[in-house]
Amino acid sequence: MERSKIVIFASSRSDGNTRAAVRLALSDIKHEFIDLATKQISLFDYQHANLGDDFLSVVEEMITYDDIILATPVYWYAASAQMKIFLDRWSDLLTIRKDLGVQLAGKRLFVICSYATDFPLGTASFEVPMQMMCDYMNMNYGGCFYYFSEQPPTIEAEKLKVFQKNLQSTALVENKIQGKKISLRMAVLEDRKNLYTWMYESDASKSMWGAPLFPEKPIKLWEDFKNSWALFYYQNPLASCGHVFVIEYEGEDVGGIAFHKPDVKNRSEIDIWLRSEKDCGKGIGKDAIDTLCKHIYQQFGILFFWAMPSARNPRSVGTFQKVGFKPLPLTPETAKLEFGGQDYIDSIYLLRDMSSNSPSS
Ligand SMILES: Cc1cc2nc3c(=O)[nH]c(=O)nc-3n(C[C@H](O)[C@H](O)[C@H](O)COP(=O)(O)O)c2cc1C
Repeated sequence: MERSKIVIFASSRSDGNTRAAVRLALSDIKHEFIDLATKQISLFDYQHANLGDDFLSVVEEMITYDDIILATPVYWYAASAQMKIFLDRWSDLLTIRKDLGVQLAGKRLFVICSYATDFPLGTASFEVPMQMMCDYMNMNYGGCFYYFSEQPPTIEAEKLKVFQKNLQSTALVENKIQGKKISLRMAVLEDRKNLYTWMYESDASKSMWGAPLFPEKPIKLWEDFKNSWALFYYQNPLASCGHVFVIEYEGEDVGGIAFHKPDVKNRSEIDIWLRSEKDCGKGIGKDAIDTLCKHIYQQFGILFFWAMPSARNPRSVGTFQKVGFKPLPLTPETAKLEFGGQDYIDSIYLLRDMSSNSPSS
């Protein structure tokens, strides 16, 4: 059955760019609409002396819907003050009106925002607080549609389609990043065994680990693999300290890809591995690396990505090069010092600089 939807709108212009973003994103999707500019919403008050304003009536209406869509412009890298005031008031729903707050549990929360310049350090400062609120209220975060409002508006058709598809689905939204032909699903602990098997026990493993080609890189035991990937690699919401993703292609899980915590020079290492030789040569790795770099750059402002495949694995080196990674003119010794490690005795250090990409490119 279709899920009912309500937009909570909070802009300084009732018919500006954010309104246009809502119209575009929800053109064919039935929804109710509340413009907070027509309501009296007071600042949060520890004494709760303000409960005679419109806040509770907005919440009472809001909780009758399955999906809540917050619509806000980006003002100074964050949600509008009107939206922030409204969200601050959700603290009343944890205290004196807990009876209303508990009814938010299980609902889905989406965000529509319009912006005009850039997120130089990524969109995390804007989006993560709303994701964390969802987590706190036991709601399910469904994602954000970023509408670039400069004239003419640049509509990212693919991303809009994914946002609309998630909105219209009746299921809980999975944490996925959409690429051209693949999607990247945020891995959870249950994926660990598959990720291990694909990395160390598949017919593709021999091009990365163990004798005869890589005698210096023994195959890891399952226990060692579990210990070498901290739990945060599997946690939700996505954070800049690193995460593992399952690569999905044509409805199947076909491999893993991860980014790691950036170093002091804002460089994050990428690891990628596919499930089987039969999945190689289809452009899956290329699309997965490109999709992940762009998403992490946009979310967290991580500017450089690097990898250190072996020179004995030209297929891997070539894949990284196809998506803009360039070999660094470093000796193995200097590279080891610069990056604090060396996977293979003949590692080729490859670096991609995202500064030439706008968040939407
Ligand atoms: C006070 C103010 C602060 C803004 N700060 C940002 C910003 O940090 N980043 C950005 O991309 N755009 C910024 N903008 C531009 C707006 O996000 C953009 O024009 C938006 O589409 C306006 O939506 P509206 O018509 O609903 O107000 C700012 C605009 C205003 C008025």
